Amino acid sequence: MRIALIKGDGIGVDVAEATMAIVEAALAKVGEQAPVYDEILSGAGYYKETGVDIEPGGEERAEAADAIFLGAIGLPSIRHKDGTEISPHLRLRDRFGLYAGVRPVKAYPNAPQRLADPRAAGIDLIILRESTEGLFYSAAAHNRSLVVNDDEVQDILRITRKTTTKLHDFAFNLARKRRERGKPGHLTCVDKANVFTSLAFFRKLFDEVKERHPDVPVGYNYVDAQALDLVRKPWEFDVMVTENMFGDILSDLAGGLVGGMGMAACAEIGDANGLFQPAHGSAPDIMGQDKANPLAAILSGALMLDYLAEKLERPVLADAADLINGAVEHGFEENALRPMEFGGDMGTKAVTNQLLSRISNRMPAKTSVSA
Ligand SMILES: NC(=O)c1ccc[n+]([C@@H]2O[C@H](COP(=O)([O-])OP(=O)(O)OC[C@H]3O[C@@H](n4cnc5c(N)ncnc54)[C@H](O)[C@@H]3O)[C@@H](O)[C@H]2O)c1
Repeated sequence: MRIALIKGDGIGVDVAEATMAIVEAALAKVGEQAPVYDEILSGAGYYKETGVDIEPGGEERAEAADAIFLGAIGLPSIRHKDGTEISPHLRLRDRFGLYAGVRPVKAYPNAPQRLADPRAAGIDLIILRESTEGLFYSAAAHNRSLVVNDDEVQDILRITRKTTTKLHDFAFNLARKRRERGKPGHLTCVDKANVFTSLAFFRKLFDEVKERHPDVPVGYNYVDAQALDLVRKPWEFDVMVTENMFGDILSDLAGGLVGGMGMAACAEIGDANGLFQPAHGSAPDIMGQDKANPLAAILSGALMLDYLAEKLERPVLADAADLINGAVEHGFEENALRPMEFGGDMGTKAVTNQLLSRISNRMPAKTSVSA
């Protein structure tokens, strides 16, 4: 199993290393060997040193791997001349057609609940963010904005039949898989079909694809109402499928509901490649201080193992993913995971070591990230 590993900038490096230690422990527990890593240098720090945002040949090597794992990329102090940041990961999404951005949001016991309503303890949903077009079609990394003159710039929101049909199919299949695992398996199309022709088209394609999945119950919501509902009654939603920019914003909002960005895992899946990363950035305000919560990255590592189980047709890898998810769930239940992000006493290494102990069932942990 070959993993292209891009640690990136800031806390990205720490959480990527923590995740690989956990993935290796889970694989060992199910009798599998550690992955072979192809580490690829990339990020704002690398750009500052070299003038390029990813090492030459890096994109091709990432493409050749079974999966790509990324820590976080970007530092606000390092920018291109036009003021935008270093973001080669947007190019990777584009190049590999990683259209399906899967962002699970789940409340864990003893983790902060930002809503007073006790039903918030049952939040368990997925935001499926289209990740290659929408308004991000014009992301600066792609150089597609129309700079009319010094007084006007236009960005394009692009919706295509090809990508959107694949996205909606993915969404229906995901909802069905969740129902098979005992979850509601309900799918909501989130758009702004009342105002934008492109998003009315997004909904029209949703209705076309719906015909092929009559077993999945569906709903519709405009994105502004969805933002309201995610605060008012998030427990009523299961899978939401939406345009790129809407998904970007809603998934941060939803991550906030269950604690913070340190819980926001993410998988970006295309026809042939999958990239896994926490949804958060490099967190320059806490970098180098062992304060980052590695759980978003670690849960993304579990998503990667689930993906590889299907891609490589090796169900044992899904068992390794279950081990990681179970260790997080039980760790919270027993109040043994107390990330600093939530006012707890555990930094990146302490959280990682606690999970390593749980996964390998040894106390104290034999494999550990050095303190
Ligand atoms: N996919 C990516 O690599 C990605 C995503 C978002 C932002 N960025 C980049 O990261 C840099 C910082 O961006 P930002 O500050 O807007 O977003 P951020 O996600 O890095 O941080 C937002 C806030 O959340 C906190 N936070 C984030 N992750 C955390 C974790 N694991 N544990 C504890 N606290 C955590 C930070 O301390 C900060 O207060 C920028 O350069 C931005 O472009 C990269």
